[in-house]
Amino acid sequence: MIHDKKKACVITFGCQQNESDSEKIKGLLDCAGYEILNADMTEDMSGRRGQFTGTSRISECSVIIMNTCAVREHAELKALSRIGQLKHYKNKNKDILIGVCGCLAEQPHIAEKIKKSFPYVDFIFGTREIHRVPEILNRVITEKTRVFERNENDINDIIPEDLPILRENKFQAKVSIMYGCDNFCSYCVVPYVRGRERSRAKEKILTECAGLAADGCRDILLLGQNVNSYRDPENSNYRFTDLINDIAKIKGNYLLRFLTSHPKDVSGELIGMMGENKKLAKHFHLPVQAGSDRILELMNRKYTRAYYLDLVHELKEKAGDTALSSDIIVGFPSETEQEFEDTLDLVARAEFDNIFPFIYSKRLNTPAEKMRDDVSREEKTERFKRLLKLQNEISLKKNKAYEGKIIRVLVESEYKNMGAGWLAGRNSQHKLAAFKSRNKDLIGEFADIKITEGKLHGLYGEEV
Ligand code: 5AD
Ligand code: SF4
Repeated sequence: MIHDKKKACVITFGCQQNESDSEKIKGLLDCAGYEILNADMTEDMSGRRGQFTGTSRISECSVIIMNTCAVREHAELKALSRIGQLKHYKNKNKDILIGVCGCLAEQPHIAEKIKKSFPYVDFIFGTREIHRVPEILNRVITEKTRVFERNENDINDIIPEDLPILRENKFQAKVSIMYGCDNFCSYCVVPYVRGRERSRAKEKILTECAGLAADGCRDILLLGQNVNSYRDPENSNYRFTDLINDIAKIKGNYLLRFLTSHPKDVSGELIGMMGENKKLAKHFHLPVQAGSDRILELMNRKYTRAYYLDLVHELKEKAGDTALSSDIIVGFPSETEQEFEDTLDLVARAEFDNIFPFIYSKRLNTPAEKMRDDVSREEKTERFKRLLKLQNEISLKKNKAYEGKIIRVLVESEYKNMGAGWLAGRNSQHKLAAFKSRNKDLIGEFADIKITEGKLHGLYGEEV
């Protein structure tokens, strides 16, 4: 008799690190014999992606895991509300097992709240317990008990290696090179929920990248909270730039990207490589967070506005065709109108290709929580809108400059916004370009596109 495989899904909120973690959880569940349904409500809480896909298949699953984000209150509330919605599946089928993981689950007060207020959640595990998913699930099933596993002691010097990874697609891959963060920016929960900074062994990273390149991967994204402080654990002289040099020697038709960089750790050598290394994508995400020195200091960012603008200048000199993006927080405690205008001024000078603006959100147990959150909600919203308006003008101007040019894009998907017969991809600068084509075989390959129109949120063109 043939039994149908049991089905499982992982619903992901938050950043690329969470997406990468979810790919490992899915890999482990796959090895444990589950069929993985693509029931990702994959959504970036900052609105970067914002799509829900395939949610209807969740009810077919025996195991539902929700991977959560805690970076801002909005993300937290949304995740809690989604966890609330999962009750509906449990009511329909009491044998369904529901798990919650990710940054939200790492916060003791939230884990406690889930334990008490969401009795249908069967298991919780933290960001450093991912490798233990099969064991945790097994305990829930065999012992018929709820399991709550968090790293209470902050002992996290071990990086579990060689976990199976079920990637979203073959042509784009996320490769974690380091975990955690030691920067303790005063507003940020990440150091508390992801633990101390630790780097993966360079051999493990190189082997993973070589496998991906041999498999036809076209876009390798190196991930870490602060990739610039990467050090090989066996040899602290071996840095991020050494790693890039070694990966770039791997043969294959791929581009290498990295996320995220802290300005204080960006070396002149790395900036030089952006101009010279042909394998490196021409895109630099360099969060500045604020344009006023007083606010930068309160944020514990450890650099000044002048230092940041010097980095931008150096990047434009040595690697002028590199697109620059940034994260910016408005309405940090005590931010004055003048200080906000300093941010606007910095944005105008840096001429970012795009930014991810955020309204300051108070996070429990961070140093900024002790500061008076005294910028009113109206003022924060107003500043957010003014910042966005300025950036939109810059982005539109930059996108218009593409008109008439031919660019090479990695074709990622169909482009449904325009109806049938459109595809979309991204170029080395990570600009989104949609173009007319019915040739779906192009998905996962590079294609040359002539840009006919540059709009605010992307480029439009035709195949050449
Ligand atoms: N409030 C608002 N934005 C935040 N970020 C991190 N913590 C907060 C917070 N408490 C933003 C930063 C970071 C991005 C990923 O999220 O800009 O770079
Ligand atoms: Fe948070 Fe700062 Fe670390 Fe980025 S560098 S994860 S903003 S503490």
